[in-house]
Amino acid sequence: MPHEYAVIGWPLGHTMSPVIHNASFHALGLECTFSARELHPDAFDRFMRELPRSSFKGLAVTIPYKTKILSYCHEQDSTVSAIGAANTLRVEPGGALAAFNTDAPGAGRALAEAGVDVKGSRTVVIGAGGAARAICFQLMWDGAASIAIVNRTLSRAESLRGDLLHAASRDVTITASPLEKNALSTALEDARLFINTTSIGMYPRVDECPLDPDLLHDGIAVFDIVYNPVETKLLRAAKAAGAKTVPGTEMLLHQAAAQQRIWRSIDAPLNTMRAALLQILHTRSCSPQPLTQNNSCYQPVRMYSKVVVQPIH
Ligand code: ATR
Repeated sequence: MPHEYAVIGWPLGHTMSPVIHNASFHALGLECTFSARELHPDAFDRFMRELPRSSFKGLAVTIPYKTKILSYCHEQDSTVSAIGAANTLRVEPGGALAAFNTDAPGAGRALAEAGVDVKGSRTVVIGAGGAARAICFQLMWDGAASIAIVNRTLSRAESLRGDLLHAASRDVTITASPLEKNALSTALEDARLFINTTSIGMYPRVDECPLDPDLLHDGIAVFDIVYNPVETKLLRAAKAAGAKTVPGTEMLLHQAAAQQRIWRSIDAPLNTMRAALLQILHTRSCSPQPLTQNNSCYQPVRMYSKVVVQPIH
């Protein structure tokens, strides 16, 4: 019997997880399948209660279930406890459910592999949702000197700031500001890292940018968690300003590789997974460019014909 894995979420139209995970399973010759399962909120409770007796060995979990799954889990790792959200479940042989968060280490790894040194750096994060939460905790754990959280809804930024300060075990400056040009301008002046954790710039709104490009400078690294398109307007502006850039595809890949370590104790073939991911993104963009890590994608992705989403009723 092949081992079954899946991503659950609602809605699930844009998931790239099956492409990445199946590329790895195939390359390693593992008898594993990974599917996308759109799980309606009305079916969530029954699905979770039946999960220990199901054929699934593990799940990737996305919006809106990253917090909701925790009450069904028997164990959680320290990252989940700190952040309060999980994106990975492992079904243990006896049926116990263990929860993990690979968004945080995935972001940390993407930055480290790109040569971005977080330790001692002044950092600016736009957004205060689930992704921002994981990333801000990782920045704190990786030794950032300061984290400036800038968000459209100030109360969410303040709440994240409070949680970070509560968990902080060392001196770190954390501020919360509304999403206004002045706040961003001040925060970015001596910052070494800027991270967009919002969906601004994501297909189909590819002409949007979360900040005025004039605020960028060559002393800053820019990480955009948006991966569709691969090169967002923000990343193009950052490159034009001479800044180092980190695309969202890298966080996606590293968090997936961490999931495979949790499920199967394997070192996932990152290059194979990256090639599969960029190929499907670029196929839709009709781009003739070669598939390399630094590939650019100026065109939006219109559809993912290779990802079949199966509904769970
Ligand atoms: P995720 O789990 O992917 O982070 P989320 O929890 O819905 O998703 O958070 C999305 C973040 O992007 C939020 O910080 C949101 O700002 P609000 O807290 O004000 O809702 C931010 N965001 C999304 N679209 C935005 C937009 N058009 N302009 C500014 N901020 C936006």
